[in-house]
Amino acid sequence: MPVPASDLHDPDAIERGTDDADIAASGGLGARLVRIEEPHDARLRDYVGLTDMQLRTRTEPDAGLFIAEGEKVIERAVDAGYPMRSMLLSDKWLPTMAPVLARTSAPVYLGASDLLEQVTGFHVHRGALAAMGRLPPRDPAELLERSRRVVVLEKVNNHTNIGAIFRSAAALGMDAVLLAPDCADPLYRRAVRVSMGTVFAVPYARLGADGAASPWPRALHLLEDSGYRRIALTPAPDAIDLRSLRLGAQEKVALLLGSEGEGLSPRALAACDLRVRIPMAEGVDSLNVAAAAAVACYALTG
Ligand SMILES: C[S@@+](CC[C@H](N)C(=O)[O-])C[C@H]1O[C@@H](n2cnc3c(N)ncnc32)[C@H](O)[C@@H]1O
Repeated sequence: MPVPASDLHDPDAIERGTDDADIAASGGLGARLVRIEEPHDARLRDYVGLTDMQLRTRTEPDAGLFIAEGEKVIERAVDAGYPMRSMLLSDKWLPTMAPVLARTSAPVYLGASDLLEQVTGFHVHRGALAAMGRLPPRDPAELLERSRRVVVLEKVNNHTNIGAIFRSAAALGMDAVLLAPDCADPLYRRAVRVSMGTVFAVPYARLGADGAASPWPRALHLLEDSGYRRIALTPAPDAIDLRSLRLGAQEKVALLLGSEGEGLSPRALAACDLRVRIPMAEGVDSLNVAAAAAVACYALTG
């Protein structure tokens, strides 16, 4: 039987031990609620060990999976067309999640908050988790073709920085983000959370992911072929001051940013048309890459 929205507060409306075929066939809300009593329940396999970053970053992309956390972020993933595999939440979050539940036919697993903690490895204070399916990777050439302002990242392998860069890119009107192969996964849980779900809104693609045909940084030739002015962001003292940068309104521009340790590689710097510096106070070595990205994206909005 479908579960009407009004029954979301009613514990009797929740099936116990319903099997997956029943769940998939349910109508009404489009979701079937399943009470989970046992942390080793195989249906929760997508949520096991979420704090093990090494394991999750290795296994999630291969499994075509990522985890979204909290009402807004889950809603944004659904809005962007990512298919939901399931949700996991504690009872008190059911009313809050009702609008999202109404938009999916995926199973919704309900458990006590300590059971959720046992499964995931952390206290789920955002109340709800969703296991989402990934979409096929985008073609960078096609993305560059239909964009005008893009951010290109080399070796940005910290998920917090990746999430923060996407958030700035979304807020400051960038059309796309391109990632060198050694950048962190934007769909890893922390990146998704820090980005506030903007990783779903700003299209992105991996550059140089096609193996020997065009390994990084040779893949940067795509930017040139697609008519982009390539601007390397670097704290080097001999780079030109960002404040003196003049760009045509219709000019296609790519902002390149590098890793926290080494910055942009010599080959990536050599592939750029300009090296640009955000002026800093005397004695300061550099800005955090996400802060530098925000300032540079803002400069393009003028
Ligand atoms: C922590 S910095 C790397 C510092 C590294 N020692 C270097 O010389 O590039 C990480 C990235 O942020 C950007 N960045 C940081 N500070 C900057 C500044 N003042 N001007 C322009 N870009 C900056 C650059 O893209 C850099 O690769």
